[in-house]
Amino acid sequence: MVIKTSSMARSPPLLALVALLLSLCLLSLASTAVGWSRRGEEDERRHGGGEGGRPYHFGEESFRHWTRTRHGRFSVLERFSDEVIQGAVGDYRVAVLEAAPRAFLQPSHYDADEVFYVKEGEGVLVLLRDGRRESFCVREGDAMVIPAGAIVYSANTHSSKWFRVVMLLNPVSTPGRFEEYFPVGGDRPESFFSAFSDDVLQAAFNTRREEWEKVFERQREGGEITTAPEEQIRELSKSCSRGGSGSEWEIKPFSLTGKRPSYSNNHGRLFEIDGDECRHLRKLDMLIGLANITRGSMMAPSYSTHATKVAIVLQGSGYFEMACPHMSGDRSERHREREHGRRREEWGRKEEEEEEEEHGRGQKTRSYKKVRAQVREGSVIVIPAAHPATIVAGDDENLAVLCIGVAANYDDKVFLAGRNSLLKQLDDPAKALVFGGSAARDVDQVLAAQPEQIFLRGPHGRGSVSDM
Ligand SMILES: *[C@@H]1O[C@H](CO)[C@@H](O)[C@H](O)[C@H]1NC(C)=O
Repeated sequence: MVIKTSSMARSPPLLALVALLLSLCLLSLASTAVGWSRRGEEDERRHGGGEGGRPYHFGEESFRHWTRTRHGRFSVLERFSDEVIQGAVGDYRVAVLEAAPRAFLQPSHYDADEVFYVKEGEGVLVLLRDGRRESFCVREGDAMVIPAGAIVYSANTHSSKWFRVVMLLNPVSTPGRFEEYFPVGGDRPESFFSAFSDDVLQAAFNTRREEWEKVFERQREGGEITTAPEEQIRELSKSCSRGGSGSEWEIKPFSLTGKRPSYSNNHGRLFEIDGDECRHLRKLDMLIGLANITRGSMMAPSYSTHATKVAIVLQGSGYFEMACPHMSGDRSERHREREHGRRREEWGRKEEEEEEEEHGRGQKTRSYKKVRAQVREGSVIVIPAAHPATIVAGDDENLAVLCIGVAANYDDKVFLAGRNSLLKQLDDPAKALVFGGSAARDVDQVLAAQPEQIFLRGPHGRGSVSDM
């Protein structure tokens, strides 16, 4: 170990950030990794904040079933209502659709634009919009945008495998709230037409109400997700396509995992689709990425300049860590504890700011809270812009994480450790000023010690540097 973590405490406040970033980089090298995590857990126990990664991490228990039948489920994640993340992603919702073999999903439209990714299986997806019908065959690894208001019906075309889709919805009228509208229904779901008066419907359809009802309010077994005979599924998927190569505005599935990775090494692969490739993503100010991290490896600590990432774990397990200024107060609190000989149970942000004014003569406390959470298939993480974060794959299998970025059009990903670390761009005179002149060689050594970039050997990976 070259730099001890205690050097951070001695750093002048202005340089504390750089020191923190450095120590984050060093996490992967730290021979004291176990000590670190033990300290972190202690902090979590003492302060409550960050425990289980709240409010940035959501487990399976945070999903509610909107639909749950024998043939499938539609589950929606609770709103991002915590004040810390609400501003960035509070308008959006995460949902998961699971359809049994040969399940059929009734036509409906959402008051939300939708970006989805096919996690498993295959299906046919039919969109009615712009006065016409478009039918797409989608399969595992595909990403696609469905514009708000399109009437969509779909089916699992496989006879034995489930069809699973994860999605991020951007409601068009009420932030963070969306509804599903079924034209045809019965008991559940109801047809939205049934809200209209008889005479209005009769006039609109030029048909007697009873005739209309016979067609539109047929009682079906199973509600919005039913099952279909094999030949009907085959018939339905007969005309499905992968979309032409027509206009750049064409709606079509993109194979995210089938394209060339934007980066790849032994420790992982990164696939991305942005607004250049899919104009609808640009319009929605979103991007889609998939990081497939090799078991025992990690993603280099990094932050996004503008985008807030909603990350959904597709496969595997591991953990994520993030430095978070909003939940800070640890060090200052400990300091104050010593000063006043008292202990604070809760440390609200507002209170903290007031206290800062009081004690710091107008200076803001510069410290960061470690947010850490175990993640596994189905976990959702929110990583706000500018927050340095990393994710580490478990030792048993690859960790695949789908990242949907919002506010992504001007986004840049900044790596803080590894060959492409932005910190390497510090010039020599600055290095001397920032790290102290005598340590210049040590600085270069530390910054150059990681030969890999983007995907690195993890803290517990075989033959890791920390064993040296
Ligand atoms: C991640 O990579 C592994 C190894 O190549 C592969 O088996 C797995 O299907 C990938 N996961 C996803 C979600 O693409």
